[in-house]
Order: sequence, then structure tokens, then C-alpha cells
Amino acid sequence: MNDSPATEALAERVRAAFSQLHGDPRPEVWFAPGRVNLVGAHLDYSGGDVLPVTVELGVCIAIRPRADRRVRLGSLDQPERVDLDLSSLGASKDPAHAWAAYPLGVSHMLGERLGDRGFDAVFAGNLPMASGMSSSAAIEVATAFALNDVFELGLPPRELALVCHAAETRFVGVQCGIMDQFASALGRAGHALLLHCADASHEHVAIHGGGFQILVMDTKKPRTLASVAFNERVQQCRAALDVLRREVGWRDHLALYTVADFERVRDRLEPILQKRVRHVVSEMQRVAAAVAALTSGDAVALGAALDQSHRSAALDYEVSCDELDVITDAARACPEVFGARLTGAGFGGCAIALIRPGSANAVTEPVGRVFRDRFGVEPGFSVLRAGGGPRPIAAG
Ligand code: GLA
Repeated sequence: MNDSPATEALAERVRAAFSQLHGDPRPEVWFAPGRVNLVGAHLDYSGGDVLPVTVELGVCIAIRPRADRRVRLGSLDQPERVDLDLSSLGASKDPAHAWAAYPLGVSHMLGERLGDRGFDAVFAGNLPMASGMSSSAAIEVATAFALNDVFELGLPPRELALVCHAAETRFVGVQCGIMDQFASALGRAGHALLLHCADASHEHVAIHGGGFQILVMDTKKPRTLASVAFNERVQQCRAALDVLRREVGWRDHLALYTVADFERVRDRLEPILQKRVRHVVSEMQRVAAAVAALTSGDAVALGAALDQSHRSAALDYEVSCDELDVITDAARACPEVFGARLTGAGFGGCAIALIRPGSANAVTEPVGRVFRDRFGVEPGFSVLRAGGGPRPIAAG
């Protein structure tokens, strides 16, 4: 695919920084994208279906293999540098690793396959960081694809996505599901990825051109305490799964129970778990409705699925916040908007709105005004272009 000027510029920056730092003007450069999730909020770790779309923004890595076991990592976005011997790397992250825990986690999970070979690398990204667009998965996926290439490991994309997910859960220590790493690794231009997290199988669903655009709305609210609340949701889903298995019968994942199963046993779940399960089983129906709407090019039905998903994520799963509620309400008040919802983990960061093509200004002007009046903050807006998956970027 043709890379956007922004991706080309990012690749040039990372190449120039590598050359300055390591004296090699021709490192290999790889790009991996971030994503938004159209619908399927917090379903991945419950074995549900999710529907992410990769964006044109992401992370570039410039890399050169080494003949020894040293790994030297730098970033144009972060001050910390790391210089260590691969044999000194433990099984989980060390606070001194800072952001470099992501590429180090990938190296650790590739383990034996890397053998005695280290590398020098420089990273740079153009995604808003920690805003729900998967900047950390993009770092992992860029690292995995680049290492796979320069060391000729021969691993297919799905395998690399699993390596990245293991890096995040086992090395970095975040109990996330597989969505972000799979979305970045398997993204295809002009398509959403329907990922069945129960067995990690997937299909690409074409996004019909012309009917709508996706507007990304960044509340700029930092997601403080998000990881605590996130892990709490994971625990609650595990507790609810135990009850459903006991009362209904064994299924591998919570999202594989139906709305009817939930109705049958709801009284045996404590009130908070009732809300969590209601979100999970009803969100599965909304993903199915969204896929049908995408397939038939029905922007109105897709927008309705987004609106309902936001309401359920806010009221039952309780992962929204005032900023995300206000920005999505303000969007819904615009006649050009089909629907809106938070994207990513929630608690802050970005929301998306499905808008009529060419209507971005008509939406961002009133939404920006409402948001500024309420929070005194200028939100960020960008019309999403559905990008492709990871790829090498040749020198211009
Ligand atoms: C974060 C996690 C994902 C997923 C989403 C919520 O982005 O990394 O695995 O759980 O939240 O849908």
C-alpha cells in the first residue's frame, strides 16, 4: 500500500535518529498501526467478539541486528534509554525498563528463537499516547515484525501477535485480552477485523466506502487508575464465570453464555456481577448487529449499535467518565452523527463518532464548544483513515 505522508515522515525521523545515534544511515524500518474498536467493549478477555479497525497512525522502529547479545533501545518520544545484555533480562519487567519494557518483553518472549543475537533500535510514534488507541501494542507489534524480518525467524502474523500478547500479559504484567496486538498485527486497509477471542480466529470485514466516516475525539483525560479498575473488571468477569458454570453448565468463556442464560441465573449473581454480565452478553449481540450493518453498508444501524454499546459500557460495565459521556452526548446531538462511543479501555482517552462523510467541521465545532465550556480543555479531533497492517518502510 502507499504510505501516508505522516507515516513516511515518521519513518524518516526514526531513520535519521538511528543514524545519528548508531552511525548507520540504512537501518531497516518497520511500521505498526494503532487501532480504534468499533464495538465489543471489554469482551476480549471474556472470550467474546470484537471489531477493531487499524488507523493510519502508529509506531515506527529503526533496527539493526547485532552480532552479540546487547540490546540498545532509544525513543524519540521518551527520555529513557536502555542498554543491556539479553542474558540479564528477567522474566518480567523492571521499573528501570520504563517504556522499553514493551520491546524487551517481545525479545524475552521470542527467547530461544533470538538465540544469542541482540539489536539496536530507535522508536517513534504519532499516535496519541495512552489514549485508548493502542500505542503500546503498536510498539510490541513493530518490534516483533522487525525482529522476525531481520533475524529471518519465519513466524506468521498470528504467531507474532501471540508473542506480543504474551509480552504484555507476562512480561509487562497487564491482564489485557488479545484484541490490541491482533488488531495491529492483522489490520488490513479498508477493513475492520472481526476477531473471535474465544479461539483467536478472525475475518476481515470490508468497510463500505461512502456511507460514513469515523471521527476520533480525544478527551485528553489521562487514564489514571485505569489499570487498577481494568484488572478489577477482569476479576469480576472471572467470578461471574464461576457462577454461570455452576448454574448453567460449563462453557470456556463468559461471552459464550447468552442473554437467556443470564436471565435465568441473574438472581444468583451479586448486583455488581449482574451488571457486568449483562454488559458482556448484550455487547455480543451488538457486535453481531454491527457486523451485519457494516456488511450491508447501513450506517444508521451501525450508529445505533455504537450508542447502545456506550450506554452499556457506562451504566453496566462502569468504564466511562464525565469527559467521555459529555463528548459522546455532544456528538449525538449533531444531526450529522449516526452514533458515538468510548473506544479502548475507557476511563478517559478517546471516543469515536460515526459521521456523515465530509461533515467533520459541522461536528467538531459544536462538540469542541460544549467540551471546552464544561472542562476548559480543547479536545483533539481527527477523521480516521482505516490503515493497513505492519509493514517495512523503504528509504525515500
Ligand atoms: C484495552 C485492553 C484490550 C481490551 C480493551 C477494552 O485496550 O488492552 O485488551 O480489553 O481495553 O475493550
